[in-house]
Amino acid sequence: AKPRIAVLGSMNMDLVVQCPDLPRPGETITASSFTEISGGKGANQAVAAARLGGDVSMIGRVGDDAFGRQLLGNLNREGIDTSLVRATDRCPSGIAIVAVEQCGENSIIVVPGANGRLDKQDVSLAAERIRASDALLLQLETPINTALAAINIAREAGVRVILDPAPAPTFFPPELFAVDVLCPNQSEASAILGWNIQSVCDAKDAAAELNRRGITCAIITLGDRGTVASENERPLWFEPVAIKPIDTTAAGDAFAAAFTIHWVKHELSMEAVRYACAAGAFAASRAGAQPAMPRREDVLDLLESEKE
Ligand code: RIB
Repeated sequence: AKPRIAVLGSMNMDLVVQCPDLPRPGETITASSFTEISGGKGANQAVAAARLGGDVSMIGRVGDDAFGRQLLGNLNREGIDTSLVRATDRCPSGIAIVAVEQCGENSIIVVPGANGRLDKQDVSLAAERIRASDALLLQLETPINTALAAINIAREAGVRVILDPAPAPTFFPPELFAVDVLCPNQSEASAILGWNIQSVCDAKDAAAELNRRGITCAIITLGDRGTVASENERPLWFEPVAIKPIDTTAAGDAFAAAFTIHWVKHELSMEAVRYACAAGAFAASRAGAQPAMPRREDVLDLLESEKE
């Protein structure tokens, strides 16, 4: 059976410009291209989970506008159930202004639009779907109280919860430490703990601290320095998967979705981390958000090429 995954989160149209370097304050630069690409952390994770073999339901909001219809159409084409995505009257769809540098690094400004309207009523409407899922996957680009309401439903029903705490909130409510898996990147982990995480060693200490605060499986992604994952305060380092970086947008989304699918299917969390590292690396080796989400064969090929 396919793992049943409920994804609650954002849907954005990414307005992507390719530029040689990111502009400094006050500077005007010329970009080489502009593209509209379906994105949003929630929708990216939904696409990755579906491509990697999940039976996926998306819970979210779009505006009643052309971007909203495009975003929904894209998820439908991926075979994702969008019956729990509401179109919001008199509100634009979320957009993200994404600047991608030649080296693949990016900077993103998000205008949440309809994502900011995702509320507890949406969660009530989705309650049965959440209860019937094998896992609930969330990020923090939609209101935090909405995420908390969904997490409570999942926990009461014994559904595992994976939280990608991106973007990191200014205040991380203690209730969020009740999720099963937390997968911040280095800067999000620093913000959550109030620590300055610089090295792999710092990340190992931070992951163990997240275990002490209640997270069963804490995973900190470190970009080209690999990933640290910890259970029972025993942190492990996973070396980076070698790729040529093209665009790091949504690499974290591919990671979170791949971890979720593999963990639900095989129960082995540390093997799921290795699989997720390859999925994230694949996404960073392709341009754009949803177009760069991997399929199972892509991840397996990359893991196989690592052995050679
Ligand atoms: O994680 C990448 C995503 O962040 C982009 O697709 C953009 O929409 C922002 O939400």
